[in-house]
Amino acid sequence: MLFIQSRNTFEGEFDLPGDKSITHRAIMFNGGAEGEAVITNALMGEDCVSTCRCMRALGAQIDIDGTTLRVQGTPNFRRGMRLDCGNSGTTIRLLTGFAAGKGIDVTLVGDASLSSRPMNRVAQPLSLLGANIRTTDGRAPVEIAPSVLHGADIALQIASAQVKSAILLAGISASGKTSVTEPVKSRDHTERLLAAMGANVCVEGNKVSVSKSELSCVDVRVPSDISSAAYFMALGALKGKTLCKNVGINPTRTGILTAFDKLGVKYSLLNKRVSGGEETADILVERSLMRGITLTAEEVPSMIDELPLVALLCAYADGESRITGAKELRVKESDRIRTTAELIQNLGGDCEELEDGFVIRGKKKLVGGNVDSYLDHRIAMTAAVGLIASENGGYILRPDCCAISFPDFFEKLGVRA
Ligand code: S3P
Repeated sequence: MLFIQSRNTFEGEFDLPGDKSITHRAIMFNGGAEGEAVITNALMGEDCVSTCRCMRALGAQIDIDGTTLRVQGTPNFRRGMRLDCGNSGTTIRLLTGFAAGKGIDVTLVGDASLSSRPMNRVAQPLSLLGANIRTTDGRAPVEIAPSVLHGADIALQIASAQVKSAILLAGISASGKTSVTEPVKSRDHTERLLAAMGANVCVEGNKVSVSKSELSCVDVRVPSDISSAAYFMALGALKGKTLCKNVGINPTRTGILTAFDKLGVKYSLLNKRVSGGEETADILVERSLMRGITLTAEEVPSMIDELPLVALLCAYADGESRITGAKELRVKESDRIRTTAELIQNLGGDCEELEDGFVIRGKKKLVGGNVDSYLDHRIAMTAAVGLIASENGGYILRPDCCAISFPDFFEKLGVRA
């Protein structure tokens, strides 16, 4: 349990940890490629440590020095391994496609939360490529057996970068062409990195196609994670002025800025540049009076991990907000529609659950109270922001899950020494 004091102002400059999605991919793809690569500003949160552990178990050599990783790819994968993916959906979903592509037999397991999350969304499309995958009632443990893959044209019902990536990773080992089309474009870090490593990748709107390719290792400089910066950006909007430095602003990830535009949050992107194939900027956010907003399915994928925080900002805004088309939140590390609604209600806000989102009646001020993270890192960090901005503060129950994506979150916040 951790007490979070309310504050009148929150100001400062922040260096945030490396991007989680890019770190996972840089470790996994290089670990299975030809040569050696250096990854800098890597996130060493628990989820990415899970990816390291799995890739090492398969035979990749990974030396870790702070946030710099030296990865040596392996052509000889160990077989018959049981790999623990921990809490990480990205690790288990991408590894399913990776293992199917490499033709190795492996069993993927995870913690209680991960073992309750849907895996048929990757197993089914991969079976259309000829993969041999057995889930446990649609969940982990997942067993992958060797098979010969052929290309397929796959239309996804949901926008999911994890599912898209699993298919592309299998597709680069399949005969013929493999295409994935999404209803709305999800984050595109896989397409970008595979292309940089020499894969045949073609992007046409929401459709990505690959054909058989050999990958060569490539160095990756990881930008800071906009999903981690978002908490400090939100504190700037609520309580003062914050500058988040060197943040990745890949357009498939900047939905939080779309939400800011609608809410009326004052922000600017400074010092824009391109680093390691990804656009970055320093993001300055200033205290703003916010108004209620509407968000729908097309806007959801680009802010999928920020939606609990966006819902919290709506609770601090003036007027009613309606967020729909976000049913995916129900199958994240927790049921984030339920846990976010409870978080806002416990702080004294007014948030109603919809099957696929929320209706939030903004109150401009929240009194504070106690919030359970339900062991979901994004709920714990959203609660911290909500409590700092509240009148009385309150306790976060089970706060340590922040280490999944942001190990020194509370230190950066000035809550813990
Ligand atoms: C991720 C994709 C998203 C996101 C997750 C990381 C990725 O999941 O919620 O935190 O790295 O590909 P979905 O693609 O399943 O929505």
